[in-house]
Amino acid sequence: MFLGIDIGTSAVKVICTDGTTILASATADLTVQSPHPGWSEQDPEAWWSATCAALAEVGAAVSLGQVAAVGLSGQMHGAVLLDAAQKVLRPAILWNDSRSTEDCGSLQAALPEIGSVAGVLPLPGFTAPKLMWVAREEPQVQARIAHVLLPKDYIGLRLHGALVTDRSDAAGTLWLDQAVRDWSPAVAEASATDLAWLPRLADGHDVVGQIAASAAAETGLPTGIPVVAGGGDAATGAVSLGATEAGRGFISLGTSGQLFVTGDAYHPNPAKFVHAFAHTVPGRWYQMAAMLNGARPIAWLAGQLQISAGEVVALAESADPNRVPIFLPYLTGERSPHGDPHIRAGFFGLEDTTSRAALCRAVVEAVAFTFADAVDSFGDTVAGLPHLAAIGGGSKSPFVLQLIANATGQRIGRTVGSDAGPAMGAARLAACGVGAMSLSDLGQQPDVADWFDPTSDPALNNRLQRYRALYQALKPLR
Ligand code: XUL
Repeated sequence: MFLGIDIGTSAVKVICTDGTTILASATADLTVQSPHPGWSEQDPEAWWSATCAALAEVGAAVSLGQVAAVGLSGQMHGAVLLDAAQKVLRPAILWNDSRSTEDCGSLQAALPEIGSVAGVLPLPGFTAPKLMWVAREEPQVQARIAHVLLPKDYIGLRLHGALVTDRSDAAGTLWLDQAVRDWSPAVAEASATDLAWLPRLADGHDVVGQIAASAAAETGLPTGIPVVAGGGDAATGAVSLGATEAGRGFISLGTSGQLFVTGDAYHPNPAKFVHAFAHTVPGRWYQMAAMLNGARPIAWLAGQLQISAGEVVALAESADPNRVPIFLPYLTGERSPHGDPHIRAGFFGLEDTTSRAALCRAVVEAVAFTFADAVDSFGDTVAGLPHLAAIGGGSKSPFVLQLIANATGQRIGRTVGSDAGPAMGAARLAACGVGAMSLSDLGQQPDVADWFDPTSDPALNNRLQRYRALYQALKPLR
């Protein structure tokens, strides 16, 4: 049995698998703290507590003593700052935090070629500008930094004691020279970062440590079993779908949204804020449009209306599509394709008669529209898009997937176990690390349970054009 641990933003998810079938799974919820506008933080200790809680639940269903190896996956780009004693110096600054906007301008000015080295232009979500902010605003913290880790690697440290990351998570820091797949001294120097703070680099399936006795006591995992480096959640999602082979692609509908296509060469396309990153497996890179708001607006509206996300989608489906307002979904700004940390969300076109159901439909359509923009932003950097598998919580809804197919004009497939994505990918990397799967076995694709073929929907297309025009109109007012 192999275990995958995914340190998400809204929950830690743990799955136990034989490599194909999910034998047990559990989630433990997390909250995000936002003490100031644009800030998004979590306490790394909360990730550890949630990991232990989810492992306890999985351990009640299957015997953790039978686990042969563990793999990690996690939200990308977060900055976990540690002192020389490996103690956390401040709450982790997350992927959807926008406090370092001005530092991105300084980094771009200091290193005009950064987009082609790091695979994307500086944006506050990435890790490097966060370190510039800390240097500027919290010099007392900066003076004590001895190590910088990404979220899943902090859990790795707690499990096995090594300071290490994989190349797909390193790719999201801006410090990785994507073409050579190693840290870039030039980017580190331009972003107030000492190269000595950065962890060792590994591939996702490399065994990087063993479960320590202290971790075994807290988690119930057997002492000494191997832990592989794993990957950032985008890359582990890819591994869960066999998108380790060039030309495969998928969309992810979680707290964030992604359109991801794997390639066997590095093709930067920084102008559209498409990310060209090293994959977690050797010799592969990927193109990714990363949308900060993903399916999160559905959960946000559900919270406001005090109903479930499923009820929002059901109400949306019941709404009269001829009387739907437009919703801009940018609750935390947007990365692809706008690179705009300042824009915020809003409804437009409300009428006296606008119903709750119409508001729900506007929000669900906006989720689909972000994927239409993502498809457009790829331009000619990939030679045509493949059929796209869908993963993440939002992929549970056929209505949402059909809207995405219609808005993007792409065929979407929902695979078996689609909502377990990144945790499953992490477990597959663990299986590969101990020789139970080969790197080419990682290319095995799960069966597609349902296909969603695009159908022509002129009214939806008309609202997509108004949605795009609305962003352009509101951009100066942000
Ligand atoms: C990808 C991204 C998100 C986070 C959180 O660039 O920012 O997917 O990894 O899920």
